[in-house]
Amino acid sequence: MSTNTVNISIQKVAKSRITDVDFENLPFGKEFSDHMVEIDYADGQWGEPTIVPFANLSIHPATSALHYGQAIFEGLKAQKAANGDVLVFRPDMNAKRFAESAKRMCMASVPEDMFLASLEALLKLDRDWVPTKEGQSLYIRPFMIATDEYVGIRPSENYKFIILTCPVGAYYSEPVKVKIETEYTRAAAGGVGRAKAAGNYAASLYPAKLGAEQGYRQLVWTDAKTHKYIEEAGTMNIVFVIGDTIITPSEENDTILKGITKRSVLEVAQDWGYKIEERDVTVEEVMNAIKDGTLKDAFGAGTAATIAPISSVGFEGVDYDLPAVESREFSNKVKDYLTKYKAGEVEDKFGWLMRV
Ligand SMILES: Cc1ncc(COP(=O)(O)O)c(C=O)c1O
Repeated sequence: MSTNTVNISIQKVAKSRITDVDFENLPFGKEFSDHMVEIDYADGQWGEPTIVPFANLSIHPATSALHYGQAIFEGLKAQKAANGDVLVFRPDMNAKRFAESAKRMCMASVPEDMFLASLEALLKLDRDWVPTKEGQSLYIRPFMIATDEYVGIRPSENYKFIILTCPVGAYYSEPVKVKIETEYTRAAAGGVGRAKAAGNYAASLYPAKLGAEQGYRQLVWTDAKTHKYIEEAGTMNIVFVIGDTIITPSEENDTILKGITKRSVLEVAQDWGYKIEERDVTVEEVMNAIKDGTLKDAFGAGTAATIAPISSVGFEGVDYDLPAVESREFSNKVKDYLTKYKAGEVEDKFGWLMRV
């Protein structure tokens, strides 16, 4: 991935905050590195990408993102390889998805080369913030907000694109108990489920809270109209192995976020010769497969956990236990491979790593 053609101006901090951070006990999302990328869009074009000291924003109370929700984001991670290189997993896919989200939310599109070049420059500058212990990483959060100072519904003419980063600890994905949600909906056909739009996450909080009160860590979202088709698991894509086939809901439905982890899982599975079906997946077939013992594996796939095994599924008030996690051939194998891949411990066979 070559990203050398974009000019970026850099304002460095006078003094790094890095020695104030306890890298042994990193909370998620609360520590921020010294710098951030900031690029403003006005008069129909993007200004010069800048890297500035991490700081509060000063925004007008009528800033349109705060009122009408033109706000999108991305999430990806960087890790340190044993030789000190900073490795980022498939950032070009995040840049593409960000552009698709912007289009759906009627926002200015960040050119992919600008997204990638400014990210690379930020990581170069803040490379000491990429933690080195096993499982730790630098979480990267690109986002964009509409910044018109105007109370009135229309697409904003001004935008702010920011990339901030947070050093985070190892993510232990203990097996998750999920509930198949048949009342609330994450996304409806024709809506914005495919976009990584801030409001999608706000809308999921209340049903997730109700689920948590019943003891479920994640909700399995179903289609808005019939609740008969499985879509995603919380903020992860969902994958099953039934018999000897890997089965996952098709992304042709515009209700599903096109996850980079799931895509990578499927590309690896294809390379390994597994049978794969991306298609509509019914609640009924999954419940039948659980009951007759043909369901071998079920997991969520997403940047945070890579693979989060599902331990039990709640449906219509009954919990069904899934096969023991240790017995699951595919998810254990692909998790191990992708974890090593992201850390640079296996060959970059698919050309997925950006090296900084
Ligand atoms: C709704 C939703 N689905 C799926 C995913 C998984 O996507 P990825 O693998 O790109 O992290 C995420 C996380 O980004 C998400 O928020």
